[in-house]
Amino acid sequence: MYTDFGYMEEGKLGKPYDLKLMARLGKFLKPYWGLMTLSLLFVLIMAGLDLLIPYLTKEAIDRYIVVAAREVVLREDGSPEEHRFWSQYGQKLIPKKEKGKFLLPPDVMQSMDRKEMALFQKFGFLTENRYYLFVPQKPEEESILKKYPSFFEGSDSHWFISLHRMKELKREDLLVLRGKDVAGVFHIALLVVLILVINFGLNFSQVYAMELAGQKMMHDLRMKAFSHLQELPVSFFDKNPVGRLVTRLTNDIQNVHEMFTSVLINLLKDILLLIGIIILLLQLNRDLALVSFSVLPLIFVTTLFFSRRAREAFREIRLKIAQMNSFFHENFSGIKVVQLFRREKENSRRFEKVNDGYYLANMKQISIYAFFVPLVDILSSGAIGLLLWYGGGKVIQEMITLGVLVAFLSYIRMFFQPIRDLSEKYNILQSAMASLERIFSLLDEDKKIFKPPSPKKEEMKGNIEFHHVSFSYNGEDKVLKDVSFSVREGETVAIVGATGAGKTSLLHLLERFYEVEEGAILIDGMDIREWDITQLRSQIGLVMQETFLFAGDIEENIRLENRKIDGEKVKEVAQVANAEKFIQRLPHGYRTNVGEGGETLSAGEKQLLAFARALSINPKVLILDEATSHVDPEKERLIQEGLARLLKGRTAIVIAHRLSTIQHADKIVVLHKGRVREIGTHAELMVEKGIYFRLYQLQFGIKEDRGQRLEG
Ligand code: UTP
Ligand code: MG
Repeated sequence: MYTDFGYMEEGKLGKPYDLKLMARLGKFLKPYWGLMTLSLLFVLIMAGLDLLIPYLTKEAIDRYIVVAAREVVLREDGSPEEHRFWSQYGQKLIPKKEKGKFLLPPDVMQSMDRKEMALFQKFGFLTENRYYLFVPQKPEEESILKKYPSFFEGSDSHWFISLHRMKELKREDLLVLRGKDVAGVFHIALLVVLILVINFGLNFSQVYAMELAGQKMMHDLRMKAFSHLQELPVSFFDKNPVGRLVTRLTNDIQNVHEMFTSVLINLLKDILLLIGIIILLLQLNRDLALVSFSVLPLIFVTTLFFSRRAREAFREIRLKIAQMNSFFHENFSGIKVVQLFRREKENSRRFEKVNDGYYLANMKQISIYAFFVPLVDILSSGAIGLLLWYGGGKVIQEMITLGVLVAFLSYIRMFFQPIRDLSEKYNILQSAMASLERIFSLLDEDKKIFKPPSPKKEEMKGNIEFHHVSFSYNGEDKVLKDVSFSVREGETVAIVGATGAGKTSLLHLLERFYEVEEGAILIDGMDIREWDITQLRSQIGLVMQETFLFAGDIEENIRLENRKIDGEKVKEVAQVANAEKFIQRLPHGYRTNVGEGGETLSAGEKQLLAFARALSINPKVLILDEATSHVDPEKERLIQEGLARLLKGRTAIVIAHRLSTIQHADKIVVLHKGRVREIGTHAELMVEKGIYFRLYQLQFGIKEDRGQRLEG
């Protein structure tokens, strides 16, 4: 039952990406490429800095927090392994008091090949005894040595203390002993804070630059679409209801913006991060990296599975919103009819159905995400568990340092975050592509109003000639057939005919809302298509059958942004249109606000305003389409008297169902089913005893009933 106001298309999803569309969007971005590049640069730096933090953590742990020299015992039995060990590391070993015992400094150990180390461990060169190396420099450091003489071994350059003895030191002494480590950790912490501060600044600038570019681009796009739409012929709007166009200019452009800001750049950042993490992890430790990535295939399959379902749910939600919108639109734009025919209950029942549909679609999406997000979380936790188990073992075996494990854990957590958001971004991308396609197809609508190469811009005299004009709205049913008649400068011509005879259509053609299909309309001997359209319309004043008022006050509605008209002129035309009296009665006179559509005025009052509006441009040709049909007879008479004065020297075409108002016209054209059937003055047509005569008889036979309309 709901009419499609163009919302149904919202259910469509595009391809996740379409390079052609993106390239076209790129054109709108071109003026802002500087901002974009800046934003991109910031993103790159941020990604790099993000990656730096776990690495710094690793450095803090391995360099300053967990540092120990290991005891080396050599049997000195001349075995080839021992020989190799000695030749490689002998130089760096620090001898202990006992023969054959040495210390392997932590930095040397960290640079050792892990496989080789395992081998040496197997041969028993490395014991489990650990020491802290200490090179005192400051006097208070020296005093520690004196305070605990039995704790330390070594000589001037290298002192060392076994780790379990170190635990027996007093807290403040321990801090002096490990002063360098504490300082090192502090510096790294400072660096991390600095990075966070820089990242904050970069993030702000990046979002700002990107939003600036995005908002400006959207602004341009809306502007372009708006001006493009304004130039399209009225026939385009017959086929595209306003609701649809509103969606184009708002929702669709919003979708594109969302894609632009929340997906494109972030996606780039995520991809960079993912690649960076993969490379870093492989560099840090290949085995551990492979173990961490072992859950990836599972995640990939899950994501694929869920993104398909999520896409379906997403599509359904958009469709349901569209249905809801169109239901709202229909229900409330026709609220009078709804209330008059007591359709409230029925409509509520229908709405409940639509509303339920929307609710269910939302719940469906929620349950999909409620399952998917924790599932990815579980998988990522699984990866972390696996890492802890495998990596922890490696740390214990001293195959990797604690710092590496900690860094791994941070990186893996960073790794899964973007994967979690992936399916959501995928959806945004798809709907944005569909929106982009709709926006561009709107911009591609090129059936513009014909513009002649050298348009005629002269002052109009007001000779109008319809020359064998035929026309149809839909290309099939002709509503005007071979219409020919002429209006000479200064003449008043009336057009009469039954409802639907084609009277208004004639005016549509004259104002070029639609183009003549066959024949031509000439003004001052020149085809109207050769006239400059602005010139044409500004010299043909039109009071339409239905009056539309814009949101604004009375004066604004009369002058319609026309700067040439001052307040005096507005009052003058209002007077001629007999609108003065009712305007003065309004609370703020000419400054009274009327809502969009002029809902606060009566139909007759609106007509009077439209009258004044048409007169205000001082047109050479005035067209009145049932211009006084809603006005009371007293005012109508006054208007006519005013008009008689006003119309001197102007050409007028008057359409009226009340034949009494047109009796004095210079010429009366009788239109019947799209054809001209009679032309002549009132007296001539009465003598002819044709259609006009019958209409006249009919109207004046049922005297005084002015509401009576004539039916054909
Ligand atoms: P008109 O609107 O020209 O009729 O429509 P009219 O003579 O002015 O009628 P009244 O007196 O104001 O009521 C002529 C024909 O064109 C069709 C209508 O269905 C009518 O049959 N038409 C009108 C369209 O197809 N599309 C339109 O946008 C307007
Ligand atoms: Mg009409």
